Amino acid sequence: MAEPSTQENGPDVRVERDGGIAIVTIDRPRALNALSPEVLSTILGTFEALAAEGSDVRGVLLTGAGGRAFVAGADIRAMAQFTPEQAEETARLGHRVAAAIEGLAAPVIACVDGFALGGGLELALACDFIYATDASSFGQPEVHLGLIPGFGGTVRLPRAVGLARAKELIYTGRRIDTAEALAIGLVARSFADRESLFAGARATLDEVGANAAPAVGLAKRVLVDAAGRRTESATELEVAGFGDAFRTQDMREGVAAFVEKREPEFTGA
Ligand code: CAA
Repeated sequence: MAEPSTQENGPDVRVERDGGIAIVTIDRPRALNALSPEVLSTILGTFEALAAEGSDVRGVLLTGAGGRAFVAGADIRAMAQFTPEQAEETARLGHRVAAAIEGLAAPVIACVDGFALGGGLELALACDFIYATDASSFGQPEVHLGLIPGFGGTVRLPRAVGLARAKELIYTGRRIDTAEALAIGLVARSFADRESLFAGARATLDEVGANAAPAVGLAKRVLVDAAGRRTESATELEVAGFGDAFRTQDMREGVAAFVEKREPEFTGA
């Protein structure tokens, strides 16, 4: 078997190849792997390149570097000065990333070790399923910033956990631990530590890899398309709502407060 290889795939994204398995790592630990537009574009290019390899790719593990976070969300600093139009553009980029992950014939497992928040949870939700270490946490904290989810959370979270639980998570913005995420079906399987997480994910890809690859690819396509019959129109609603959040003063205040490391003072405007 060929030696595993590592490649920098543009800003802050690494791809390691080990035979037919690709490990895609978002490697921006100084910002808890937050998704700037540049990082999103790089992830998009990475998944498009993996798709172009066809059946040479039999599985992907998507993860975050640094030991603290999978991804702590969209990059709040980058978003602070966005116009509503730029916000919509970024939301669409996030949706294109999710569509590229869902469009890959091979299974993609989100390997979460740490925070999966906001756009980070939305990225994980675009994967086929989520495996996580016990010490991880999950949430859609956008309302704390005067925002709403923008990379598919309003569409995929309800599908994963049901409408009521998704509303509860999105309206409160609260974080849940892996045990709770497992109980509500957000996480498919939990592991004691990062090493056993990756061993478990690799073992699942091996189990899938023993099956007929075209059948797995077809099953994925039908599962994604059936679940997402109205994804495109639903995500367009989200794009409009995400842009509208940027027309509010509370959004400017929420994001400024995060950047300035203080509590926000919301006025309802
Ligand atoms: N964007 C930009 N920078 C971020 C970030 C983000 N989403 N999350 C963390 N960081 C940065 C912090 O600003 C900090 O940088 P500095 O050291 O330069 O100040 C660094 O990462 C470490 O973070 P903290 O010091 O805050 O670490 P902590 O352990 O005290 O807290 C945390 C960790 C609870 C995850 C906290 O960082 C946090 O609340 N992050 C924001 C989470 C969030 O709100 N995510 C949603 C973003 S909006 C979104 O994603 C919209 C969408 O749907 C598209």
